[in-house]
Amino acid sequence: MQIKNICCIGAGYVGGPTMAVIALKCPHINVTVVDANPERIKAWNGPLNALPVYEPGLAEVVKEARGRNLFFSEDISGNIERAEMIFMAVNTPTKTEGEGAGMAADLRYVEACAKDIAKYSKSDKIVIEKSTLPVRTAEKIKEILEENSTNIHFEILSNPEFLAEGTAIQDLFKSDRVLIGGDETESGQKAVQALVDVYANWIPEEKILTTNVWSSELAKLASNAMLAQRISSINSLSALCEKTGANIDELSKAIGMDHRIGPYFLKASVGFGGSCFQKDILNLVYLCKYYGLDEVAEYWHQVIKINDYQKDRFAQKIIDHFGGDLTGKRIAILGWAFKANTNDSRESAAIYVAEKLHKAGATIEIYDPMVSEDSIYSDVRFYWKEIPKTHKDRFDVLKGSPNFNNVDAFAIVTEWEAFKHFDFKKSMVFDGRNILEKKEVTHLGK
Ligand code: NAD
Ligand code: UGA
Repeated sequence: MQIKNICCIGAGYVGGPTMAVIALKCPHINVTVVDANPERIKAWNGPLNALPVYEPGLAEVVKEARGRNLFFSEDISGNIERAEMIFMAVNTPTKTEGEGAGMAADLRYVEACAKDIAKYSKSDKIVIEKSTLPVRTAEKIKEILEENSTNIHFEILSNPEFLAEGTAIQDLFKSDRVLIGGDETESGQKAVQALVDVYANWIPEEKILTTNVWSSELAKLASNAMLAQRISSINSLSALCEKTGANIDELSKAIGMDHRIGPYFLKASVGFGGSCFQKDILNLVYLCKYYGLDEVAEYWHQVIKINDYQKDRFAQKIIDHFGGDLTGKRIAILGWAFKANTNDSRESAAIYVAEKLHKAGATIEIYDPMVSEDSIYSDVRFYWKEIPKTHKDRFDVLKGSPNFNNVDAFAIVTEWEAFKHFDFKKSMVFDGRNILEKKEVTHLGK
């Protein structure tokens, strides 16, 4: 089947960059991204330096494809109707109420998408799960599609996204693998082939892996769990290093040089953040419990517990340094994004650290080169009475020196490249990467 029109529902961190790259690499396919949030669509159609997602290289891709075969639109119904292939790239946060609250994925946005697809489709469609979903969600989507339509055949594929924020464009250009799960029926395999043909425009065929739907759905959750597990493993060892005089960087290097282990995701930190690791592991834990696999659930839950422990340990170190009370102290938090090279602060360790220091009496000042003040305020407004100071204007990047007055300590929480070059002089700096306090900072990364 020759695909001419693709529609993607969800213009977020996944939908925007992924579709921009598909459009760039497949000039013969019209790709339209729709979203229920008109502000987001407006921003995607706006100036290249103010796109809703910051990713190195993204503006260049959008510049080339936008208006040619890449479109951002508020017209959900018309674009569903026109497309032969529809991606669902909506958010799947952790449920906050009802059965499975605090653990299971909230599928309400995916279900709403499925209802829209059923309502507006007038011809057969290939519907693709791009969002990260619990294993066997395709069954539920199929049910919704069939209950809400007549005489239309929907083929559901799972095609989870593995990009990491901050490197999304590179990850999409050179994916380690593209995973496509489909039914083993004739029509299922035809749909799989149609999607393989899209990716084959730039991904070598040996990197396109096809499986059944359930393996594909579960492989995504499992991949995130395995990556996060490595971080919790090294972070747990950072605590032991501090007690014994071993150096966590040296330990990481020594362990990672074993080719069976490898060097990636062994960097100790204040704890992993981001919108996915925690939510996906909680979802995995929930699924294991649902199937009665309590030991397996507890194994994966421990990855989250160590992450919480690490964030708490970092903040507590700062509090202990000042004798247990931060009243009258000013602490500058450097970095608010959950990692470098993104404007995303969802589940950032900085949010937890700032809250704990604030509760211990500190006045907090915050600087991040990319996260907007609005995002920072919305992250802290649940626990903060007064609005904290943010410092877009008070960081003298050109001089390479932080320009905060009377700060008692700096806490580096995000590994922005710029921070490596600041001259902190004799300030007290708590380096979130090594979880070591230093009178004179040795630069991050060394
Ligand atoms: P996001 O919140 O940035 O974007 C989701 C978008 O979907 C929002 O703009 C929202 O307005 C829109 N939306 C929600 N319901 C809608 C509906 N019914 N109709 C139209 N639009 C609707 O989320 P994201 O970070 O892009 O993540 C999307 C999915 O991809 C999640 O399942 C996530 O786990 C997965 N994922 C994310 C990343 C990442 O790096 N952020 C990487 C891989 C996979
Ligand atoms: C992660 C995965 O890497 C992607 O493959 C996946 O597609 C994505 O989740 C998702 O499903 O959303 P992302 O969260 O964007 O990507 O970024 P990562 O590079 O994985 O970093 C996650 C967190 O782990 C960050 O807070 C980062 O600072 C931390 N981290 C990473 C460490 O603490 N140490 C490391 O060695 C690596």
